[in-house]
Amino acid sequence: MPSSPPSSAVDVTAAPAVPIAEEMRRNGIDRRSLLAWSAGMAGLLALPRVRFGPRIAAAMETQTRLPVLWLHGQSCDGNIESLLRASSPTPSELILDRLSLDYVEVLMAASGQAAEARLADTISTYAGSYVVVVEGSIPADGGFCCSGGRSFLEVLREASAGALAVIAAGSCAADGGLPAATGGVTGAMSVTEALAGTTVPKVLSFPGCPMNVENITAAIVQYLTLGEWPATDAAGLPLFAYGARIHASCERLPFLRAGQVALDWGDAGHRAGWCLRRIGCQGPSTPGNCSTVKFNSATSWPVAAGAPCIGCTKPGFWDLLPSVVAWVPPVPAPPPTDPTPTPTPTPTATPTPTPTATPIPTPTPTPTASPVPSPTPVAG
Ligand code: SF4
Ligand code: F3S
Repeated sequence: MPSSPPSSAVDVTAAPAVPIAEEMRRNGIDRRSLLAWSAGMAGLLALPRVRFGPRIAAAMETQTRLPVLWLHGQSCDGNIESLLRASSPTPSELILDRLSLDYVEVLMAASGQAAEARLADTISTYAGSYVVVVEGSIPADGGFCCSGGRSFLEVLREASAGALAVIAAGSCAADGGLPAATGGVTGAMSVTEALAGTTVPKVLSFPGCPMNVENITAAIVQYLTLGEWPATDAAGLPLFAYGARIHASCERLPFLRAGQVALDWGDAGHRAGWCLRRIGCQGPSTPGNCSTVKFNSATSWPVAAGAPCIGCTKPGFWDLLPSVVAWVPPVPAPPPTDPTPTPTPTPTATPTPTPTATPIPTPTPTPTASPVPSPTPVAG
């Protein structure tokens, strides 16, 4: 755990010199909300709230945004979708979406050569002081997912060369995801694999389908506040987000301990909020903090909504999915309403109707011109 703040965590000389807290105020986020959010960020990062909450708030008063280049490889764009909000952004959404995104292909108006020029401009303007967020996997075969005659692997390596850090957002970027599942034809790689042998200072992986925007924001906030990225495991997963299993803080866990387990979809236990283990929940083996951080401004998460965790943060989860689904007991057929079997009627041959001649339509008479009325003489 870092012990002292850096004298200058980030030197973004080309970025607007407006502190993040000032931008928050302009977007209707008052100081009380900033302090509450800062304490929440400290808690999310597993830092003592009382000590680090005020430090994060103080850092937001002085630090400006961290420029972000958001690149899209082989993905469904679900991660950027999870970030977007039409109105009333939370501080996290504000930092990552409204303030930081300098280049994101699916949102910017530029396309074609203008977009390529924008990418090159952003890389040179913020050289050494930006973060690359990658959504989607990287095909080993450059014939897939290429733009401007360049493979995505080439684009990623060029953008990453001058980055402070590269963040793999979502399962496809973190471990290849769906394109790397059995049957994939592109040779899909993770960001870590694609950048092997390069000098990128830090690669952080945030698996999930989609990842949680709060976790990526927390990593950026820690860097802005303390000048260092969160600690990770050997695979690059931040420990604050993936160091525990979903199950450990699940709200349905007390029911499991009491032996109260839903046995089928929609049964009384399912509706009463009992544990979903028997209908396929993968929470006990899935790393993540979904059960505490939640989604959509912390309103809910899959298990709270009644859906078993399908383990979307686990490596290769798409190949594991069939066994998860197979574990779910089949929905029983509805009971017959009449126990007496109804005899099946013997089909009888249906006579083929004799075609009748189509009547020839009577031609519509051509309308004749209406007589033009004579003008009324005007008295003179
Ligand atoms: Fe664990 Fe899933 Fe049951 Fe929650 S619902 S206690 S995560 S098995
Ligand atoms: Fe994924 Fe399970 Fe969380 S399905 S979003 S890891 S609850």
